[in-house]
Amino acid sequence: MQGTVSWQSPSNIALIKYWGKHGRQLPRNASISFTLSHCVSTTEMTVDTGGSEFNLEFYFEGQRNDAFGARMEKFLLSITDKLPWIGNTTFKISSKNSFPHSSGIASSASAMSAVAMCLVDIDAQLQGKSYLDLPLASELARLGSGSASRSIIPSLGVWGECHITDSTDDYAIPYSDQVDPIFHTFHDDILIVSASEKSVSSSAGHQLMDQSVFAAARYALANDRLKALTGAMKEGDLETFGSIVEDEALTLHGLMMCSEPSFALLEPNTLNLINAIRAFRKDTAIPVYFTLDAGPNIHLLYPDQYTTEVGKWRDEVLAQYCEDNRIITDQVGHGPKKLK
Ligand code: DP6
Repeated sequence: MQGTVSWQSPSNIALIKYWGKHGRQLPRNASISFTLSHCVSTTEMTVDTGGSEFNLEFYFEGQRNDAFGARMEKFLLSITDKLPWIGNTTFKISSKNSFPHSSGIASSASAMSAVAMCLVDIDAQLQGKSYLDLPLASELARLGSGSASRSIIPSLGVWGECHITDSTDDYAIPYSDQVDPIFHTFHDDILIVSASEKSVSSSAGHQLMDQSVFAAARYALANDRLKALTGAMKEGDLETFGSIVEDEALTLHGLMMCSEPSFALLEPNTLNLINAIRAFRKDTAIPVYFTLDAGPNIHLLYPDQYTTEVGKWRDEVLAQYCEDNRIITDQVGHGPKKLK
């Protein structure tokens, strides 16, 4: 086959975090996340599958990028057991992000899920299939970056074996039809406290858990929280939802601070924002909550019906704690989209 496919795929924000892995990128606990809408990667993949050997040219934001290309090559050659045709294919891959590079937003979830969608699309064409194998797409995305497995899923995805649903460690599955519809309307405004790359690299972060004295308790806690969180989401219980999500975000950072070596990624303005969010919630009773990734930026979570009040306060009060007043507004979205 000679041809080009192009897919756009979003980032996601975990509510219960994946932190700790083993084997071939398998999670130590189940995680759940909102799939976003505006923070996306777009990947165009041109292939000639009829060659005699593997070849790759990689472009990032329009420029040839051999460093990213080497990582992509390693990934593609690691999945030839799943897609044997990769071994004799010539690839030209171009990738770009909707959000600025160095905005503090991790791009591996959107980027690897977009690549995975291109691969299963090509695979379907090679096999003459009229449908896309989404579990395979999520599995390939997982092998590229664990959290990317969840970006394949619209709105709300669960990845990892657990007691609440038939999820598996291999790939993520949809969960949005099991929660109150208010959660399909959630916003995630990303408050950029610092755009510099201070986050712990994911491989270093996951490795810290291997040595952590808290590891066993952490994995048990994550599973208990997943159960309590999904119960609250089913009931539309925003208060319980918010309290679990905030505790979980702070647990992630607590684990990093107590690890060996220790990482403190929260900045003074992260804490200023947390205090401001809690005070506003107390004063107004508006259900607005925060979560964090492995970095200092706050993800502000709230239902769509409060957009006006939250938007005004966000721009008037919260923006001052952000680097150059930067805020990236996003919301729960529908998952990957085919462009070509
Ligand atoms: C804190 O998926 O980036 O964002 O599998 O090594 O690529 P790798 O790790 P990655 O880890 C994400 C960690 C997290 C939590 C989460 O998204 O669940």
